[in-house]
Amino acid sequence: MKSVLLALALATVALSAADIPPLIPLPKELQQRDGSFAVYKPEILAAIRYDGALENEAKLFEGELEARFHSPLKMVKEEAKIRLPQEIHLDLDPSLSLGPGGYTLEVAPDKVVIKGKDAAGAWYGTRSILQMLPPKGDETWATTKGIYLPAVSITDEPRFQWRGMMLDSGRHFIPVENVKGFIDWLAFHKFNRLHWHLTDDQGWRIEIKKYPKLTEVGAYRDSTPPYGNRNSDDGKRYGGFYTQEQIKEVVAYATERHITVMPEIDMPGHMAAAIAAYPQLGNSDIPDYAPKVANRWGVHPYILAPTEETFGFIDDVLTELCGLFPSEYIHIGGDEAPKDQWEKSPRVKALMEKEHLKNGHDVQSYFIKRVEKILEAKNRKLIGWDEIREGGLSPQATVMSWRGEDGGIASAKEGHDVVMASNTHLYLDHYQAPGPSELAKNVNLEEIGGFQPIYHVYEYDPVPHSLTKDEAKHVLGVQAQLWAEYMHDWKKVEYQAFPRIAAVAEVAWTPVNRKNYDSFRSRLTGIMKHYDAAGVNRGEPYEKPTKITRDDCKVTTTLKMHQENWPELIYDGKVETFFWAEKGASKDDEVVLNFAKPFKGGKVKVVTGGAKTNNGDILESGVLEASADGKTWKECGTFDKGIGTGALPEGDTSFLRIRVTAPQETWIMFREVTID
Ligand code: ACM
Repeated sequence: MKSVLLALALATVALSAADIPPLIPLPKELQQRDGSFAVYKPEILAAIRYDGALENEAKLFEGELEARFHSPLKMVKEEAKIRLPQEIHLDLDPSLSLGPGGYTLEVAPDKVVIKGKDAAGAWYGTRSILQMLPPKGDETWATTKGIYLPAVSITDEPRFQWRGMMLDSGRHFIPVENVKGFIDWLAFHKFNRLHWHLTDDQGWRIEIKKYPKLTEVGAYRDSTPPYGNRNSDDGKRYGGFYTQEQIKEVVAYATERHITVMPEIDMPGHMAAAIAAYPQLGNSDIPDYAPKVANRWGVHPYILAPTEETFGFIDDVLTELCGLFPSEYIHIGGDEAPKDQWEKSPRVKALMEKEHLKNGHDVQSYFIKRVEKILEAKNRKLIGWDEIREGGLSPQATVMSWRGEDGGIASAKEGHDVVMASNTHLYLDHYQAPGPSELAKNVNLEEIGGFQPIYHVYEYDPVPHSLTKDEAKHVLGVQAQLWAEYMHDWKKVEYQAFPRIAAVAEVAWTPVNRKNYDSFRSRLTGIMKHYDAAGVNRGEPYEKPTKITRDDCKVTTTLKMHQENWPELIYDGKVETFFWAEKGASKDDEVVLNFAKPFKGGKVKVVTGGAKTNNGDILESGVLEASADGKTWKECGTFDKGIGTGALPEGDTSFLRIRVTAPQETWIMFREVTID
C-alpha cells in the first residue's frame, strides 16, 4: 500500500504544472523530452547558426545571450561548412503549416533548432528560449556546472494577429529609454503592437514641424493633481515631448523586435492641448472656446471645430505622422467627445444644414469620415475607439471596443474589423488588488478606480460567444490599456503593467482550450524571476480570496456583494480582507454568522470601514444580536463610528447577526468579527 501511495505521489509530481517550463504565453503544443541542452558549460558557450535572412533576429538574440554570459557567442551563417559544438539554429521554413508568426522549436541534447514560418516566427522561437533560461542579471550561472535548456518540442503560432498594449504618454511623459525597455518586455511576451497615445487634453507629446506651438505650448501644463486628491493642484509646471528623431528611434527599435508602433492622435475631443496652442482650431464662434492645457483629468468640453482649416491641420499632422510611423493603422481616437460646443456653434449649425446632419453624433460621423478620406489618400487605415460608431461608422474603419464589448460585437456583425480593448478586463489602470488595501499601503498607489485582478484579466476571451464563426474572423485580437492619469512616473507604470502583462499575453496568443489559470499561475512564478532580476517594480499577483471562514462558520447576508469581496471574509481571521457591500443598505438588512460550535459568552467586536471615499464605508447605524437557534434574537452590542462592540450572552450563541438599523446611501466594508 505504502509503495502504491508513493508511486501515486511521484506520478503527481511528474505531471504537476510546475514541470512545464515557465513559458508565457503557453505554446500551442509543447512536449517535454528527455535530457537537456547546454547553452553554457564551463568554458563552452553555445554558437548560433542562422539563415542569412534572419541576421537581425540572430544578432539581437546573440546580444541578449551575450549580456547574460558576458561573452560573445560564435555566429555562423547557415551554409558555413564548419561545425561548432552546441549549435542553436535559426532557420526559416515558409512551408510550415502554421499561421504568420508560427515557429517550431526543438531542444535536443546535441542542438537546438528554431524554424520560423517567417522572421517573426523565428524571433518568437528565440523569445521562448530566453524564457527558459535564467533571467538576465541572475549571475549564479557563473558558479554552476552549466546552464541547460530542458529538452522540448514546441509547435506554436499566435491565436490573434493583434496582440497589443497601449501606453499613454499624453497624461504623463514617458522617457524614450522606458518606452524602449517596455518594447523589450512586449517582445519577451510575444506581443506585436504598441499603441502609443501621444496627445490628450493634458499634453501634446509629438513634435510636428509645421505646427511648433503644439509642443511649445501644448506639451506643458501648469499643474497636476497630486496622488490622493484628484481635485487639487500641485502647482508645478509639467511637460515634455518627443522629437521626430526620438520617434524614429523608438519605431526602429520596435520594428527590429517585430513590434508595430501605432500612433494615436485623439480627435475631435481630448484636444485641449492642441486648441490651447492654436485656438483657431476650436469653436471660435462661441464664448469660452479656448482652453489652457488641461491640468485636471476627466472629459473636457473642448472639441475641434469641423472646419476646412481644421481638416487642413489634421491632414498636415497626419502627413508628418505617416512619415514617422510605417504602421498601416493610424488611431484617431474619437472617444469621449462632448458635442455641447458644436451644438452652440452657429458655424456648426450651418454645416449641419448644408450636409443634412441631424445632431452632434452625425457631426462626429461626418468628422471621422473626413479623416478617413485623409488617411486613405495616404494609404493608411483608420482605427478608433468605439464612439466612432456614433452617427454611423466610416466605411473602412476598424473599431477598438473599450466600453465593454458591445461596440466590437455590433461592428463585427456589420463586417468591420475590431480589436477588443474592453474596460471590463483590459484596463490596467484599474486596481490589481482591492483599492482600499492598495491605498492603505501608500497613497501613491492611487488608481482611477475599478478592480482588475490578474485572474480576471486571464479569464478574458476576446471572441464573444454571440458572434458567428464568420463574424468572429473580424476580431483581429486584443489589447490592454495603461492610461496614465495616475501613473506619474515609470515605476508606477511598471507596477500597473506587471505582472498582468503576462495574463494579457496568454489571452492574446494561447489557444483558448489550452488556457488554465493554475498552470499560468505556476509558470508566472518563473516569469516573475525575470521581472525581479531586471528590477521591474511589479505588483503582487492578487490571489482570489478563499471563502474559507474560521471554524467553518457559515455567513449569509441580504446585502449585495461588491466585486469578489465575499461575505465569508468577515470571519477569516484577516482584517485586510473584507466583505464589501454595494451601496444602498436598507433598515433590517443583515449579515448573519452561524458558528460551527456555539460560544458561551465572550467579548465581540466588529470592525467596519476603511475606504477613503464617502463616509469611509463604515456601517453608520447598526446593532449586534445573538441567538441560539437563529429565530429568537437578543441585542448584545451597538455600533459607534463604524465599530460594533458588545458581550455575548452566557448561554449558547450559535448565531451572531449584524443588523442595519437605518437606511444608508454608501457602501459598507465589513472587515472582521472577533470574539474573545
Ligand atoms: C477611453 O478609455 N476613453 C478610450
